Amino acid sequence: PSAWTGINERTFLAIKPDGHQRRLVGEIIRRFERKGYHLVAMKMIQASEELLKKHYIELRDRPFYERLVKYMGSGPVVAMVWQGLDVVKTARMMLGETNPADSLPGTIRGDFGVDISRNIIHGSDSRESAQREITLWFQPHEIVCWQDNAEKWIN
Ligand code: TYD
Ligand code: MG
Repeated sequence: PSAWTGINERTFLAIKPDGHQRRLVGEIIRRFERKGYHLVAMKMIQASEELLKKHYIELRDRPFYERLVKYMGSGPVVAMVWQGLDVVKTARMMLGETNPADSLPGTIRGDFGVDISRNIIHGSDSRESAQREITLWFQPHEIVCWQDNAEKWIN
């Protein structure tokens, strides 16, 4: 689809190595399922330095960039695409702030994190970022089309 908006909006979420190590994968997926979003793609991978550098390309001049790429490659990442109404913005709300110390209880980073450099999960910050990141991490055939059996009530 050319424009992923409305109920067809998609975002890219990735549980970071610390989230996996701390057994938070199920908890995180559960939150988005219960919210009403559709999981349309998922894979656990050991991300390459090349992929991670592309993923965080906008931060390449920041002092924490090299450390960030190293940490993201230090263990498995659970890469996912979630779909639903306003999912980009709502997922960012569910994640909390970049710094867990600034994140409210009830958010993933607010409930489970303390350290900005180990903040458990990534979420796209805009529809444009989401489209770029989904394309970077997934092949088209790895993403399912949930509309074929969509639950009508969620619209
Ligand atoms: P950023 O895209 O600004 O945050 P977000 O993940 O909320 O979109 O930064 C990407 C990641 O870089 C962030 O999740 C954690 C790490 N980071 C640091 O380690 N130190 C920092 O000062 C910042 C701003 C980010
Ligand atoms: Mg970001």
